[in-house]
Amino acid sequence: MEIAERTADLRRIVRVVRDEHRIIGLVPTMGALHEGHLSLVRRSKENDDFTVVSIFVNPAQFAPSEDFRRYPRAFEADLQKCEESGIDLVFAPTTIEMYPQGFSTYVTVEGIAEALEGASRPGHFRGVATIVLKLFNLARPHRAYFGLKDYQQLKVIEKMVRDLNLDVEIVPCPTVREPDGLALSSRNAYLGPAERRAAAVLYRALVAARDAVAAGERDAEAVRSAALTVIQAEPLAEVDYAAVVDPETLQPVRRVEAPALVALAVRIGATRLVDNMLVGVE
Ligand code: PAJ
Repeated sequence: MEIAERTADLRRIVRVVRDEHRIIGLVPTMGALHEGHLSLVRRSKENDDFTVVSIFVNPAQFAPSEDFRRYPRAFEADLQKCEESGIDLVFAPTTIEMYPQGFSTYVTVEGIAEALEGASRPGHFRGVATIVLKLFNLARPHRAYFGLKDYQQLKVIEKMVRDLNLDVEIVPCPTVREPDGLALSSRNAYLGPAERRAAAVLYRALVAARDAVAAGERDAEAVRSAALTVIQAEPLAEVDYAAVVDPETLQPVRRVEAPALVALAVRIGATRLVDNMLVGVE
């Protein structure tokens, strides 16, 4: 396994792989790797000849008030997991390498990036789109893998790829969950034991919404209430948003006649967690 910290080294390795006509898969991450990340890696290993994992905690996608400084970092453990997973190349740049002095160009995806997470975290998707475009330009992947756990992020990246004619296939990957339904996330490391137990409420709320739709409920507000009722019964949980939206536009729907996305952002103590589920699917 090779490790590149400099963009020039990544470029040199990628040029050789491309010249050999081998297919490159990229898995962008912020590290503190868990089974969710590794499920993306496995998909790439199945599909591609050469798998690149990037590990970079991207300051541009954190607001000043957010958790950039205390975001979990576990570089040595990450490298070991990458090695065990048979990854070909890890790209782990420094902040200065990605954002040198004077950096001033950003990608703004309008519309879809403004709903849900975009409304709660202004500037977040501008940071995400910018770093992902930079990673695409550096690693030149044929395919790139994104988790449905961050559904809106996936949609923002798909939109950027279409709008900017990027020559990369985006591969969506299912959400990996703990046995109690909690979606794996690097931020779960922030949770104390009581908070960890409480955090399963997100999944239970999504299941309640799904069950309501399966039982014939079509009114989106009633579906939303089914989820909210579950969350409100958990004293450690505080809802940031709960929304029933069109899976393509992320705009609220009034009726659930076609598959809809139920999207949640919930604070458990000081930790903000997101999750989502497609409901109304056969
Ligand atoms: P990060 O949170 O590290 O996630 C990296 C990738 O792993 C994302 O595509 C995310 O959706 C996926 N992922 C996380 N938890 C998952 C789970 N439980 N099941 C399936 N996939 C999961 O998302 C980011 O980093 C950053 O915003 C990034 C795209 C790297 C840009 O900085």
